[in-house]
Amino acid sequence: MNERDTETIRGLLRQEGYSFTDSPEDADLILYNTCCVRENPERKVYGQVGQLQELKAKKPGLIIGICGCMPQQEEELPVMLERLPHVDLFFGTHNIHRLPELLHRINATGERVVEILDDGGEPVEGLPALRDNDFKAFVTIMHGCNNFCSYCIVPYVRGRERSRTPEAILDEIRNLADAGVKEVTLLGQNVNSYGKDLQSDTDFADLLEMVNEVPGIQRIRFTTSHPKDISDKLIQQLGSLDKVCEHLHLPVQAGSNNVLRRMNRKYTREYYLEIVEKVRQAVPGISLTTDIMVGFPGESDADFADTLSLVEEVGFDSAFTFIYSLRKGTPATEMADQVPEEVKKERIYQLIDLQNKISLKRNQALVGSEVEVLVEGASKSDSHMLTGKTRTAKTVLFPGSQDLIGELVKVKIVEAQTWSLVGELI
Ligand code: 5AD
Ligand code: SF4
Repeated sequence: MNERDTETIRGLLRQEGYSFTDSPEDADLILYNTCCVRENPERKVYGQVGQLQELKAKKPGLIIGICGCMPQQEEELPVMLERLPHVDLFFGTHNIHRLPELLHRINATGERVVEILDDGGEPVEGLPALRDNDFKAFVTIMHGCNNFCSYCIVPYVRGRERSRTPEAILDEIRNLADAGVKEVTLLGQNVNSYGKDLQSDTDFADLLEMVNEVPGIQRIRFTTSHPKDISDKLIQQLGSLDKVCEHLHLPVQAGSNNVLRRMNRKYTREYYLEIVEKVRQAVPGISLTTDIMVGFPGESDADFADTLSLVEEVGFDSAFTFIYSLRKGTPATEMADQVPEEVKKERIYQLIDLQNKISLKRNQALVGSEVEVLVEGASKSDSHMLTGKTRTAKTVLFPGSQDLIGELVKVKIVEAQTWSLVGELI
């Protein structure tokens, strides 16, 4: 979501006449789009922006700004204002479209500008975007989240759910297709509740069907799906819409019902396993990925063992694994029995170790198969090798000419690794 917002920011800046540089020394404006979902990225922002103090002293005309989720937090903003006195501009997640105006104000007055809105209001349409990639694109279909999982800061910094209209989404996707984009990823914190706030009765499954009709688009992906809201209708669509890729990212977070209840996830382990079963029946060969957290307050050894056994039972293709991180203002921060850091670390190593073994096994089962790959670029370590993604969202490396970048090709898998596959063009 932040990456997509950055594309809008870059689009707005280009309209204002800015060009882009990789070197901070050459920049007239340095803008950090921040995440606050865990503590680590926040720490990095303080570190990196702190270091710009020297540059700012050498080049007083330089404008430094921080936007996104960090300044959107009521408790963090005053800390940032004090700890980062050389930062000229702060704005949040709801007023990205106001960036040109805020920059004009700084240029006109030379004063620090801070503008944080409490509420997103209706989605703002018609904003430009500068995307890096010519053949795949993120498309935001909804903003915000209504779920309030007890560990999560997102609903506080991104506001309530607001869906874009199907017309606005389809317009954007048609324009992307006309510009040569082949793959779109539909974005929302919980795409399964798309449309619930709209007048029309289009739901997410209907939206997928509409996007499937757009000529030129060849692959459709989406993220993220909350297990509690996945409908039978959607599961059927996954199996029947030809452009919708055989991949579902379905964050489980934990395998213990005690922990799931205190996380306010509103489903049980048994329910999750039922969904997995249904999805695998409807879409043979689908790859399943997930998010899992360890060290949620009160997580006992037995609870953690439930997470390991769920991971084994499902056999995810891969998983993003996280150590629970306290977020100010969320209910879990106030819970008793916070898990000691050493225990959290020990658990995450165990979890990663198990998942790696499973990922490798699942990849090994693909050796000898033929897959469709969207070629994304040359491999960083060997320019004779291309890299791309299967419909199941797996990375494949294979020898080939750079002319194929942006094309869909057929590849035979010859070798499996934990994180990627190696293949040969057919
Ligand atoms: N600590 C650790 N991980 C978190 N996530 C969300 N909030 C926290 C937190 N406080 C993880 C969840 C979510 C992913 C995007 O980030 O697993 O699915
Ligand atoms: Fe956070 Fe839960 Fe919303 Fe996902 S569904 S963004 S974890 S509150």
